[in-house]
Amino acid sequence: MGASPTRQLWDRVTVFDGSRTWPQPMAVIVSDERIERLIPASELSADQRAGCELMASGGVITPGLIDCHTHLVFAGHRAAEFEQRLEGASYADIAAAGGGILSTVRAVRAASEDELLDQTRPRLQALMADGVTTVEIKSGYGLSLEDELKMLRAACRLGRELPVRVLTTFLGAHALPPEFSGRPDAYIDEICERMLPAVAEAGLADAVDVFCEHIAFSPAQCERVFQAATRLGLPVKIHAEQLSNQHGTALAARFSALSADHLEWLDEAGVAAMAESGMVATLLPGAFLTLKETRLPPIPALREAGVPMAVATDGNPGSSPMFQLTLMLNLACTLFGVTPTEAVQGVTRHAARALGLQGQLGELAAGKMADFCLWRIDDPVELAYAVQPGRLQQRVFAGEITHGAPDSGVTP
Ligand code: NIG
Ligand code: FE
Repeated sequence: MGASPTRQLWDRVTVFDGSRTWPQPMAVIVSDERIERLIPASELSADQRAGCELMASGGVITPGLIDCHTHLVFAGHRAAEFEQRLEGASYADIAAAGGGILSTVRAVRAASEDELLDQTRPRLQALMADGVTTVEIKSGYGLSLEDELKMLRAACRLGRELPVRVLTTFLGAHALPPEFSGRPDAYIDEICERMLPAVAEAGLADAVDVFCEHIAFSPAQCERVFQAATRLGLPVKIHAEQLSNQHGTALAARFSALSADHLEWLDEAGVAAMAESGMVATLLPGAFLTLKETRLPPIPALREAGVPMAVATDGNPGSSPMFQLTLMLNLACTLFGVTPTEAVQGVTRHAARALGLQGQLGELAAGKMADFCLWRIDDPVELAYAVQPGRLQQRVFAGEITHGAPDSGVTP
């Protein structure tokens, strides 16, 4: 075997670096798992080109996409609830009748860890085939220590098995499990005193989330979870102001939360609290569409206040059974009025911030991790414009092509 060149070159590519699209064709040189150089292609000498293995010439490169809010690990499906909603039942009606999240809890409790893995793998592979290189996965369908640990272990195992970075979030406060029916505070005690310490001890969660809503947990209950998480050194985030305004976002801001997610009912004070604390607003247009919501998250106010906006799938069996992040780009523009550039920033740089990984992921520059996608398009805006699978030409994860192949047929 001959020694392989240590440097790889993507030549004459259009680069969206996480913030903007460079106006001229660029050269991207990767060495090991990092970007060594990102410079205008015209500035690369013939010698420098000759020292590199050509991986592709032309096309559009974006940072690897980051889906910063998913409930990807689950068992079963809730197609019957889809039919019920089409016939007029609301998400809250279905939850009140013991369906919704609790119906997935029953399926997850009945599934083995291996079964969870097998059911989740195709969803994760679908995201990867759409350009995702980093994904956040929440627990929250186990709601007992044992079943929450099982979900988190399944998520971590998928991250070791596949070329994708998996971050895990403990969402014990997602719904009230039946064995605590009528005793929500006792369940919060269980989360704070037993579940969270065990999850932290096992090193199975990167963050802690709560569902602050009239059908889930009150701000006071969420606050107790945040206090326990903070004591354990875990960052927090929140599902907030999705179906009503509970002022959960302002609460989360007091705990320097990474993000507040959904936000259709966010008010001015909530926007100000987010801006003040530096939180990310994670927009979830798949849930908005699926639940046929009509109230929009306050995008102009968030934009005006300089709150970074991420966009994610919220991929889950109930409110957003959608496992295609590029579709969310289109929906964020069409339904919420974000610009295509904001949308692409929302699945790169701002999504990295929502995971506490700003400066490490979601950007392309010298020294950054070489997680990126080469697309068969002319302009990054096309990612939001057309809903069209099959445009991913190469997916590069930590410097290795994990989808597609080198395309050095075009002589530079
Ligand atoms: O983000 N809002 C709460 N949780 C999920 C829905 C989970 C489910 O319906 O299974 C969400 O929309
Ligand atoms: Fe969610």
